[in-house]
Amino acid sequence: LFVGEVDFLKGVVAMDGLPPDDRAEVCFAGRSNVGKSSLINALTGRKGLARASNTPGRTQEINYFTLGSERYLVDLPGYGFANAPVAVVAKWQALLKAYLAGRVSLRRAFVLIDHRHGVKAVDNEIMTLLDRSAVTFQVVMTKADKVKGAEHDKILEQVRGQLAKHPAAYPEIVVTSSEKGDGIGTLRSIIAT
Ligand code: GTP
Ligand code: MG
Repeated sequence: LFVGEVDFLKGVVAMDGLPPDDRAEVCFAGRSNVGKSSLINALTGRKGLARASNTPGRTQEINYFTLGSERYLVDLPGYGFANAPVAVVAKWQALLKAYLAGRVSLRRAFVLIDHRHGVKAVDNEIMTLLDRSAVTFQVVMTKADKVKGAEHDKILEQVRGQLAKHPAAYPEIVVTSSEKGDGIGTLRSIIAT
């Protein structure tokens, strides 16, 4: 669906570097290393489009991708622990929060949760920020390929319990694996609508 329609536009390091807010955008937020960039690559079918790596703190800018001429996909830096100097991390975390709280053309935030770990305190913090800013968000479980049956359901239950506390949360949770392709079609159709 997206292949050929997607291109890297720019990396943004300050709010005044954001492109004009004249089209709808969706963003991918989540703890460092949760799989945001990998998910964008899986969704677009373009492996090296968003740079992914095993080092938490890989993405340090707000990366804009055009999806056709009417939409942006936005890859965000992670929150929580990152393998980078404290001052640098603080700067991009502030940018991340300013973006999530203040971007008027942000239609939906996808909040990615590692299926092995469930919702952590830092995730709740970000979700609360989204509640306050009235940004609808949808939880996407990542790395589902790394989790087995019973554990899978147990974590999902934990996540549902946490989501109940957040008025801006969309009730449906999408379970994905960028590695195996699970949930990628579902997510594509959500983005396309
Ligand atoms: P930051 O930019 O540092 O915040 O990280 P990120 O959230 O963009 O994560 P990234 O996509 O760079 O992936 C982090 C690591 O997780 C990489 O080693 C990926 O290969 C791995 N990974 C991502 N998605 C999956 C998945 O669905 N399954 C498995 N097994 N590994 C994954
Ligand atoms: Mg990344």
